[in-house]
Amino acid sequence: MTSVDAHAARASRDRAVAVIQAEHRALGTVVAALQRLLSDLQQGLIEPDYRLLAAMLYYIESFPERQHHPKEDEYLFKALRARTREGSAELDELQGEHVRSGQLMGYLAQTLVRYQGGAPDGLATFIAAVDAYAALLGDHMRKEEGVILPLADAHLTESDWSAMAVAFTENRDPLFGAEAGQEMRRLRRRIANLVPRKLQSLLRPEGD
Ligand SMILES: [Fe+2]
Ligand SMILES: [Fe+2]
Repeated sequence: MTSVDAHAARASRDRAVAVIQAEHRALGTVVAALQRLLSDLQQGLIEPDYRLLAAMLYYIESFPERQHHPKEDEYLFKALRARTREGSAELDELQGEHVRSGQLMGYLAQTLVRYQGGAPDGLATFIAAVDAYAALLGDHMRKEEGVILPLADAHLTESDWSAMAVAFTENRDPLFGAEAGQEMRRLRRRIANLVPRKLQSLLRPEGD
């Protein structure tokens, strides 16, 4: 590989990894904001805003479940499996968690409807479902960044990284297109505008 090729490969790798990490941060902050909001609700500090709660669930459903996880399955995990058998148990586990996360998401929506419908244990059940989802997602993202990305650094080729960089850069994303990324940014701004003032700083710096 010439030094120019090596430089291009490094740039693709850095771009792809930066997008994955930024998407993890964006997801993490919305889930954290939801947990803070629910804690305030539980303490009776604020009144429920169901429109906001629904927007947050819509974001969580649309972004990780419809965009982020599928891109990892289709590009990062597939490329790694093609290059090495190392990490295959971890990849199996992570792909299982992508499925489990989608199932938990459906349960989250059900528990929000029960809460909104006035079920006596509605808020506690909704909070328990959100906490379970947050724990799964947090652990999942830590494993991807701590185990899978270092393995990718060790085994992926220049062409793998350049395909990943194209796929993960949403404007040129061949699977999901630019529209989906723009919709997520609009939704994130809407959520940032609806949350109580003290939570706004948590959401504003990311994803805009
Ligand atoms: Fe993932
Ligand atoms: Fe991820």
